[in-house]
Amino acid sequence: MPRIVKHDEKGPLEVNGKMICQCGLSKNFPFCDGSHRKTLDEEPGKTYKYNTDGSRKVVE
Ligand code: FES
Repeated sequence: MPRIVKHDEKGPLEVNGKMICQCGLSKNFPFCDGSHRKTLDEEPGKTYKYNTDGSRKVVE
């Protein structure tokens, strides 16, 4: 069942030496794979939808 989940964090959380994804974009979830770099230029107050092909769009 598809879900829409909002994530506000733009980087991982280190737990016992492991980097845990908080952005929701990792393809190796729950571990960070560096995909959070795509979020670094997000503008405050906007909501983005990320597609599986790597593209994104602003959601109204
Ligand atoms: S925090 Fe999600 S990929 Fe790094």
